[in-house]
Amino acid sequence: MATDHDKLERIAILDYGSQYTQLIARRIREQQVFSEIVRFDTTAAKLRENLPKGIILSGGPNSVFAEGAPGIDPEIFNLGVPVLGICYGMQLMSQMLGGRVEPGTEREYGKTEMATLPENELFAGLPEKFTVWMSHGDRVAELPQGFKASAESGNCPYAAIRNEEKRFYAIQFHPEVVHTQHGSQILGNFLFKICGCRADWKLSNWIDETVEKLREQVGEEEVVLGLSGGVDSSVVAVLLHRAIGRRLHCIFVDNGLLRHNEAAQVEEMFHAKLGLDLTVARAAGRFYAALKGVEDPEQKRKIIGREFINVFAEEARKFRDCKFLAQGTIYPDVIESSSSVKGPSQTIKSHHNVGGLPEDLKFELVEPLRDLFKDEVRAVGRVLGMDPELLERQPFPGPGLGVRILGEVTEEKVRLLQQADLRVQEEIKKLPEYRQIWQTFAVLLPVKSVGVMGDQRTYEYTCAIRSVNSIDAMTADWTRIPYDTLATMSNRIINEVRGINRVVYDISSKPPATIEWE
Ligand code: XMP
Repeated sequence: MATDHDKLERIAILDYGSQYTQLIARRIREQQVFSEIVRFDTTAAKLRENLPKGIILSGGPNSVFAEGAPGIDPEIFNLGVPVLGICYGMQLMSQMLGGRVEPGTEREYGKTEMATLPENELFAGLPEKFTVWMSHGDRVAELPQGFKASAESGNCPYAAIRNEEKRFYAIQFHPEVVHTQHGSQILGNFLFKICGCRADWKLSNWIDETVEKLREQVGEEEVVLGLSGGVDSSVVAVLLHRAIGRRLHCIFVDNGLLRHNEAAQVEEMFHAKLGLDLTVARAAGRFYAALKGVEDPEQKRKIIGREFINVFAEEARKFRDCKFLAQGTIYPDVIESSSSVKGPSQTIKSHHNVGGLPEDLKFELVEPLRDLFKDEVRAVGRVLGMDPELLERQPFPGPGLGVRILGEVTEEKVRLLQQADLRVQEEIKKLPEYRQIWQTFAVLLPVKSVGVMGDQRTYEYTCAIRSVNSIDAMTADWTRIPYDTLATMSNRIINEVRGINRVVYDISSKPPATIEWE
């Protein structure tokens, strides 16, 4: 089995800051060709070190006329490698190769009918006319030498262009978004007909190679891992366990702010079923004590983050002989922290990450998922035979129920919210559209109101149900949960959870609201 990652064929995507750059990379990997996003200012010399089979210039929010607009090392056009420019990438390519770009008087945005001209490999096998997704102001007005038109749209005489001899192609539209018909086939034509790629990016190979590499990296040493119960750290745990068995030591911190029964489930799954070496640090009391009397949301987050590090460090010190610390870093985390153009693709991750470990704990990092997108991490988990329910889990914030209990957190309120949330989870999972929902959960409000139960008046807490659909948590809209489901959730909470007598449904979108209430 070849273990040399460098032998894998790859496509390099120069990132000009488009919100769709990651989508281009995923669409390519879906066709089993490995793709990597690199900074737009990556030099030709750097690319030559591990020459890609093709280069894609992504779209971006800039105009080529803007001051400081991101450019390209012109030597890249002499690498002898096919290049595909998309949107901004097309304009940049045209300008660099001697064509003329003109500032748009009108923006062309949205679905547009495009007509292709014959004999173009990029559109091989496609109908003459189809719908594409446009989003641009500037456009190419004169072609660089050696180029000819491949397609036109109403507002764009050069919707696609090419220089067959040099194997340079450019398109004004976005093939990576679903609104473009035949987008995958267009990218596929670039990969297979123009770049001559093999489809050699297979997750089962990746697993074998990664297990080999982990064995090499770790040697005879030991590794600690903070298991959170989420998808990424769970997949890392199973992968490392496969590579080094009981030399992997997992630490799970029960901060008392988890969902109902969660700590027990993690123990059952990872220790009892999978046989991993697992320490559960039962630290709930410590978190509650530190949170006593604290109402401010940011203050609560800080305290929970700090206590987490303290507890984790105490446990990790027991494994002082370990040389390595494993982490569930995934590809979007890597791209986001190194991205060169700050486009709208910047995400919110930064404010979620807890701080570093204390000085005396010096571990080398093991991050086997650094190359993978979230859907690939899930697919690896499936190939490893992990529980599908665990792999499809909705995101859960690090501070847990601490940011879903508004105001002061107490043990009693945690119990109440766990019980309410359990009923919300049970009911939402019955819906066929459950997998399309980003997050659904209950929030405990610091509001008591009057109710009536039998002959008695009650004066109890209010619970809010929050459910949102989203692509990346940057924006979100509230889920149109069927009324019957909402009714069942409400009835069950009010009848079965002592202490809550009123349920409301949150119908705010993000922005201006956020997904969590704190
Ligand atoms: P907001 O509330 O900012 O949430 O719209 C966006 C996404 O991030 C999650 N979230 C957090 N995750 N630590 C985390 O690990 C946090 O402090 C935190 N705050 C919000 C939230 O659940 C949603 O998926």
